[in-house]
Amino acid sequence: MSLRDLANPHIRELEPYRGGRPIEEVERELGIANVIKLASNECPLGPSPRVVATIEAAAANLNRYPDGNCHYLRQELATRLEVAPENLCFGCGSDELLGLLSKIFLGPGDEAVFAWPSFAMYPVVVHGMGASPIEVALDADLGTNVERLAAAVTPRTRLLFLANPNNPTGTSIGTAAFAALLEAVPERVVIVADEAYYEFVRRPDFPESLRCFEQRPSLIVLRSFSKAYGLAGLRIGYGVGHPEMIDLLDRARQPFNVSSIAEAAAREALRDTDHAGRIQDLNRRGLAQLEQGFEALGLGYARSDANFVLLELGERVAAIHDGLLGAGVITRRMNAFGLGESLRVTVGLPEENERFLKALGRELSH
Ligand SMILES: Cc1ncc(COP(=O)(O)O)c(C=O)c1O
Repeated sequence: MSLRDLANPHIRELEPYRGGRPIEEVERELGIANVIKLASNECPLGPSPRVVATIEAAAANLNRYPDGNCHYLRQELATRLEVAPENLCFGCGSDELLGLLSKIFLGPGDEAVFAWPSFAMYPVVVHGMGASPIEVALDADLGTNVERLAAAVTPRTRLLFLANPNNPTGTSIGTAAFAALLEAVPERVVIVADEAYYEFVRRPDFPESLRCFEQRPSLIVLRSFSKAYGLAGLRIGYGVGHPEMIDLLDRARQPFNVSSIAEAAAREALRDTDHAGRIQDLNRRGLAQLEQGFEALGLGYARSDANFVLLELGERVAAIHDGLLGAGVITRRMNAFGLGESLRVTVGLPEENERFLKALGRELSH
C-alpha cells in the first residue's frame, strides 16, 4: 500500500500548479549570469522603500499573533474603495480566496464554469474539492465570450470564475458584457470576478464591479497586492463582496491567514501612492514599448489590459523560447494552456523589454 492510496482520489489526481522558472535555477543550469525573468507577471520594480521600512519596523513585534481581522488595513482599504469595512475579506494572496470560495461552494458532483485558457489555479481549486471544471473556449480573438459562459451553466453549476483581465491573454470584458453576464447567470451561481490586474487596465469602459454586489450578493470581486503594488512575495490579496459572502469567507478561513507583516506592508503600499503611480506608469510605457517592438517585427499579439502580453510566434515557438532562454531571458510557453504557438511575456523595466525585443529579433532572423 502506498501513501497515495490513502489520499482522497481528487487530491491524488491533482496536477500541481507549475510556476515560472526561478532566475537562479536558469543561471545554474545554463551557466550564465544576468538572467532576467519576464515569465510570472511580477512587478519589475521592487516594493516601495516605505513598505520595506514598514516591514522592518513591524518585524519587532513578530512574537505576537496578527490581528485576525486586519482592522486598520480594512478601514483604510474600505475608505479607498468606497465600500464598507464589512465588505472586505483578506487572504494569503487572492489564490487563497479562490481556494476558500471553492471550499465554501463546491463539493463532489458540482461544476465550476470558467473561460479557457485562463488562470491555471481555477482547475486546481475545483479539482481540489472533487468538483468538475467546465472550460469554455475563448473567442478566436482570445476574448472571453460571456454568452457561452452563461450557456455552460447547468443545474450543477455552483461557481463561475471570470478573470478580468484574463491571464494568459491580457484581454478583458467591458461594462456591457459584464452586465450581460450578471443578467444571464442565475443568482444561485456565485460569480467570482478575479481582477488581479485591475490597476493596469487601459480600456475606459472597464466594469465597476464593486458597485454590483449590493444587488447581487452572489458576486465577489478579488484583487491583489501582488501585481500593481509589487508585493507578490508577501502574499496578500482581498475580496470585496456582500457582508453575507464575507461572513462565509470568515468562517472558512484560518484565523490568522494574513501575517502582521503583510497587513502593515499592504497599508503602507496603499498610502505610497507615488510608488503605485510609478508602477502603473512603468507598465503603461512598457506595454507600448513591447507593442511597438512586436509591430516592427510583424508579430501578432493580444491587446493587453494587464502587465503581460500574449505573443503569437507560430511553429517555431519552442526554438524561439529556448533561444531567448539561452540569451538569459525567461518567458513562458503556453502549451499547457492549449496555446502551443504562443509565448507570454511580462512587462519588464524599459532596459529588460529592450533586451527581450533585441533577443527576439535575433531569434526570428535565424
Ligand atoms: C488571474 C489571476 N488571479 C489571481 C492570481 C493570484 O494572485 P495572488 O498573488 O494575489 O495570489 C493571479 C496570479 O498570477 C492571476 O493571474
